[in-house]
Amino acid sequence: MKKLYADNAATSLPKPPQVIEATCNFLKEIGCNPGRGGYRLGLEASRMVFRARELLASFFNVDRAERVVFTSNVTHSLNILLKGLLEPGDHVVTSSMEHNAVTRPLARLGKEWKIRVTTVPCAKDGTLDPADLRKALQRETKLVVLTHASNVTGTILPVAEIGELCASRGIYFAIDAAQTAGIIPLDFNALQLDFLAFTGHKGLLGPPGTGGLCLSERGGRALKSLMEGGTGSQSHLAQQPEELPDKLECGTLNTAGIAGLAAGVQFINEKGGPAYFQAQEGRLLSAFLDGLREIKGITTYGPGEQQKQAATVSINIEGWDAGELSYILDQEYGIMTRSGLHCAPDAHKTIGTFPKGTLRFSFGAFNTMKDIEAILEALRQLKTL
Ligand code: ALA
Repeated sequence: MKKLYADNAATSLPKPPQVIEATCNFLKEIGCNPGRGGYRLGLEASRMVFRARELLASFFNVDRAERVVFTSNVTHSLNILLKGLLEPGDHVVTSSMEHNAVTRPLARLGKEWKIRVTTVPCAKDGTLDPADLRKALQRETKLVVLTHASNVTGTILPVAEIGELCASRGIYFAIDAAQTAGIIPLDFNALQLDFLAFTGHKGLLGPPGTGGLCLSERGGRALKSLMEGGTGSQSHLAQQPEELPDKLECGTLNTAGIAGLAAGVQFINEKGGPAYFQAQEGRLLSAFLDGLREIKGITTYGPGEQQKQAATVSINIEGWDAGELSYILDQEYGIMTRSGLHCAPDAHKTIGTFPKGTLRFSFGAFNTMKDIEAILEALRQLKTL
């Protein structure tokens, strides 16, 4: 049976051959710990990490490479940010479309540090009205943290307007770009961001276990370290060094993963950048949404428009359980999807699908129009069962 992967919101597959080669080659040809030994291969490892950092800084338009910190995934990045920035009594504004990577750290900080959190309700299609967010701001608001696009409905949040608003009030602004980095062009400076949390294994096409946090100058200064340990620098100090990236990066880095991540970013750049994938995946999304509209008994969630949505679509089919559908699609048609709550219960409450959830299709760099047709045909067949 043909395998058809439609779960790119969970991780992108397949990876470009260059990514696999770069990951394996690092282990085969270099493999040393960067920033530690002064021997030639150790320096080669340091150079690889430095070049990867510069590449990502240029990709996201961050002024200085040291303000890109490597992490193991976007959840790690968001924890570094939330726990390193917030202090007891602070007020935070977020949305009702967030992933647990934002809501769970905030819930813990709310309980243990008495951080006050205002969750701005989004509309049923997941869209956020900037005027509602504006109303939620208080004098004590320290941070606004938002997903760039929902992992449930693909809904894109208005980060440019919110960036403008936060900058005018001096409030730190952070986005969770788990679903958009590599797929929607992101300009850190133009969006007036203080923090951009990204993962390496989705739209950036890198291996799992990679990710990062981009920081503004004031954001970098404000963050306290979440972990302390060896950095290979200033080892005489009892305290964690204050300089970036060492302040926020300690222990041995995932060097093989970073080599693969850099190859993923280069692959994207060679194709013409994220805009190329945004257009390509946008065409698939539009065709899929059009096809779904023609099948009776299917409820589709989200804005339903290419301009307002990443290539992620949640549906339910009358009379079917989403988990059962996902199972049958895999077993009978080789179509891989994710069902349930997608680690985003608040988003499902917003769109009215909690606690049962939805069946989610998410398209990526290597999906084709043929895949869309095959999925639509499978759904049509299931409808007649
Ligand atoms: N957060 C990822 C997803 O949406 C894993 O599936």
